[in-house]
Amino acid sequence: MTENIDLFEAIDSQRAIRRFKPDPVPDELITRLLQAAIKAPSGGARQGWSFIVIRDQETKDKIGDLYRAGDGFPITPDMTGQVRRVYGAAQYLEDHMEDVPVFILACIQVNANGTFSAASIYPAVQNILLAARGLGLGSCLTTRQMRFEAEIKQMLNIPEDVATAAILPIGFPAEGVGYGPTRRKALGEVAFDGGWGKSWRDYTSGQA
Ligand SMILES: Cc1cc2nc3c(=O)[nH]c(=O)nc-3n(C[C@H](O)[C@H](O)[C@H](O)COP(=O)(O)O)c2cc1C
Repeated sequence: MTENIDLFEAIDSQRAIRRFKPDPVPDELITRLLQAAIKAPSGGARQGWSFIVIRDQETKDKIGDLYRAGDGFPITPDMTGQVRRVYGAAQYLEDHMEDVPVFILACIQVNANGTFSAASIYPAVQNILLAARGLGLGSCLTTRQMRFEAEIKQMLNIPEDVATAAILPIGFPAEGVGYGPTRRKALGEVAFDGGWGKSWRDYTSGQA
């Protein structure tokens, strides 16, 4: 069941997967994802995170209804090809939330001022994405549950002082849906050597 792929193969090929086979995800694999999540760093090692695994159809139906009642991903003429493709794929996911085998809702304790430290929950979320890749599962970071946070918190009995940071759909990738390679800006465009502006020279690819 576990592919045991190399860490860098997982990093290089992990990509947003939004269409899934209907097959259930075994509990052992979900446990492995959660174990990976709680290995992440957090500010002051506070570990203010919690993770809710959502599998029952009734809850997924309700989540689907919430997303359908929202305004979706409107495509405007100024959007580039890649943004359009991403919006189309994201819309597909939102139109089929009830068909996703499992969701992991990543939550985090809020601070006294009502905000939360993103830097203390998204590393755990990234660990789940990478672990999913390693286990042959697909997933995708989504944060749009924040639009219906009050409803979702009520539905799942989430305490007042806990915020929802991301909802991750999890499942085996649908037929024809593959992992990366992902398309990203060239390293030299975004990594600098010694100060802003001097491109980091990527000797491995000859780019930059
Ligand atoms: C902060 C954040 C919010 C995101 N929200 C959504 C979302 O609501 N729906 C969705 O389908 N994907 C969402 N994504 C996933 C991005 O669209 C995805 O990471 C990006 O398109 C790169 O995809 P790739 O790794 O397959 O190249 C989000 C990603 C991030 C980092």
